[in-house]
Amino acid sequence: MRSFRLLLLHSLSFVILLSDFVHAQTLIDALDGYPALSEFKSLLERNPNLVPLLTTEDISNSSSPNRLTVLVPSNTAFAAYRDMHDPDIAGLPSTELQAVLQYHILTTDTPAIDLVTASPQRRVIPTELRQEQYNNRTGGAELEKSSSGAGSGDGQVVIFNTMEENENDRKRQITGKLEVLSGLYKSVNLTILDGVWARGLFQMVDGFLTLPETCTSTMKTQSLTSLDRALVRANLGSTLDHLPNVTCIGPTNEAFEEAGGPDETASAEELTDALTFHTLTEPVYTNFLRDGQIFTTVSNDTVRVTVNDTGIYFNDAKLVKRNVI
Ligand SMILES: *[C@@H]1O[C@H](CO)[C@@H](O)[C@H](O)[C@H]1NC(C)=O
Ligand SMILES: *[C@@H]1O[C@H](CO)[C@@H](O)[C@H](O)[C@H]1NC(C)=O
Ligand SMILES: *[C@@H]1O[C@H](CO)[C@@H](O)[C@H](O)[C@H]1NC(C)=O
Ligand SMILES: *[C@@H]1O[C@H](CO)[C@@H](O)[C@H](O)[C@H]1NC(C)=O
Ligand SMILES: *[C@@H]1O[C@H](CO)[C@@H](O)[C@H](O)[C@H]1NC(C)=O
Ligand SMILES: *[C@@H]1O[C@H](CO)[C@@H](O)[C@H](O)[C@H]1NC(C)=O
Repeated sequence: MRSFRLLLLHSLSFVILLSDFVHAQTLIDALDGYPALSEFKSLLERNPNLVPLLTTEDISNSSSPNRLTVLVPSNTAFAAYRDMHDPDIAGLPSTELQAVLQYHILTTDTPAIDLVTASPQRRVIPTELRQEQYNNRTGGAELEKSSSGAGSGDGQVVIFNTMEENENDRKRQITGKLEVLSGLYKSVNLTILDGVWARGLFQMVDGFLTLPETCTSTMKTQSLTSLDRALVRANLGSTLDHLPNVTCIGPTNEAFEEAGGPDETASAEELTDALTFHTLTEPVYTNFLRDGQIFTTVSNDTVRVTVNDTGIYFNDAKLVKRNVI
């Protein structure tokens, strides 16, 4: 009996030691148990300049400790990147590689399973990507409320979607499968690991997140050719790209056609009026929209949001693609 107790005591203290050890782990050490993530681990090992972003201690001096979740691209993601790009991810200039990594660091350590069931607001998640080049916006009160305090919403966001929501702008049943939406409307799939390391968690993604680009280059990737033409004719592209903190409501090519092709026929002045009317003076994530909300536009008019059984509307225009970052 006594020796059994002794044994029990030993195994207990062993468990405690082990869990302390687990909590103090660097990300690199924590990745050891995950062969499918070995390429990311060696990317970190070969780039010591990336590692300061992932030290075991928070160096940001914020009053609330900054907890993180790292979205770790799997070996499959590395292979897919290699197929699509030359040079390989490791060959990117170090500032760009750093930006890519920053975009994969979420400023929350909410377990992924909780995000599946979280309110839509909590699925807009700020990251450590803060440079102006990729992030000319600040979060504002609503985003801060749903993340962890003052300034926490200022990093560029990713948006967690369930598959169903992405296919159609009306909500359907949540299945527990998660997509992470990044720049240029590109998504990757997330596998829930809830792996633990010193500063929070890590999850696996099957592709690299795409860094956000300016409004005009993003709209070119979304087939908004009439809008692009209108911006060129009004000579507004560069102005728009340098406006911080805005949301562009981009009419589809069909919408331009239905309006009689103003991108080709209207004067530059008329186009300027129309385009500034389509630009809201704050970042507006669909997840936060409420029926009856009013937004101010760059033309200093207002636009009203309707949320009803058939969808979401800005005035009478129906939203057909949400959250193009
Ligand atoms: C954190 O605070 C210390 C001491 O107040 C200061 O030396 C250091 O530069 C600060 N670090 C950052 C990242 O602000
Ligand atoms: C971000 O906004 C600032 C302030 O208007 C502007 O000077 C800067 O050029 C913008 N950066 C980008 C990449 O658009
Ligand atoms: C950006 O918009 C948000 C939301 O309206 C606002 O709270 C924030 O102050 C704005 N940031 C800047 C730099 O204008
Ligand atoms: C995510 O999963 C979907 C289907 O489940 C697949 O079509 C898509 O290619 C995956 N995305 C990536 C980036 O692998
Ligand atoms: C914007 O419109 C409001 C209300 O119509 C007006 O009070 C305000 O002066 C306008 N601001 C600018 C900058 O024109
Ligand atoms: C929803 O609102 C839009 C915009 O006001 C309107 O066109 C549409 O008919 C409404 N749908 C329903 C079912 O009321």
